[in-house]
Amino acid sequence: MAPADLDALLARRRSTKRFSARPLALHALASLVQAVFHADEGRHTYASAHARYPVAASLVVGGVDGLEQGTFGLTGGSLDRLDDEDHRAALAAASLDAPWLAACPALIVLTADLAVENEAFAAQGPAQGERFVAMEAGMIAQSVHLAAEDRSLGTVLIAGIDRVRAHQIPSSVVPSGHELLGIMPIGHPA
Ligand SMILES: Cc1cc2nc3c(=O)[nH]c(=O)nc-3n(C[C@H](O)[C@H](O)[C@H](O)COP(=O)(O)O)c2cc1C
Repeated sequence: MAPADLDALLARRRSTKRFSARPLALHALASLVQAVFHADEGRHTYASAHARYPVAASLVVGGVDGLEQGTFGLTGGSLDRLDDEDHRAALAAASLDAPWLAACPALIVLTADLAVENEAFAAQGPAQGERFVAMEAGMIAQSVHLAAEDRSLGTVLIAGIDRVRAHQIPSSVVPSGHELLGIMPIGHPA
């Protein structure tokens, strides 16, 4: 990609909060996931303090052509089926202001175990681990934004989360001990 192309992509990046009912094609979703979440010899497209990569990503699918509803792990950029349920409504209910997430074709879900990270970085001061987690999630979110923009798809980082409701979401989506950091819908802009 020429520098001017990346500059143009950055300039075009915007949040999408209204999505078309048009289903998402599996190949478009899979290529976005592969672009952002693939790892090369344990290194990712985004940086991570001490290369710990504590942010976990899962994908909740409900309206994708060629893919049955369910939850998928995204480790390494491939789609690994974790369950067959449609958890979009539960995720929408865990947002503070985005009930419309329930109708989006696919939701990327970012989570991390904050207690483990605070412990890992305790020598650097209190709550250092969770600060690093938030920064890593931000880097991932920007990558998802740019990869979506490059495919004429829409996304937004929804990080206003009701933590009580988030803890009621099944562990296939939010692993036990993890906090829900953010939800990124993927679909065609309306
Ligand atoms: C950390 C963070 C949290 C956000 N949380 C929400 C949210 O809970 N609900 C929402 O509708 N938008 C959320 N957004 C999206 C912002 O509203 C959006 O980025 C902002 O309005 C600027 O618009 P733009 O992204 O199109 O430039 C969040 C963005 C960031 C970076």
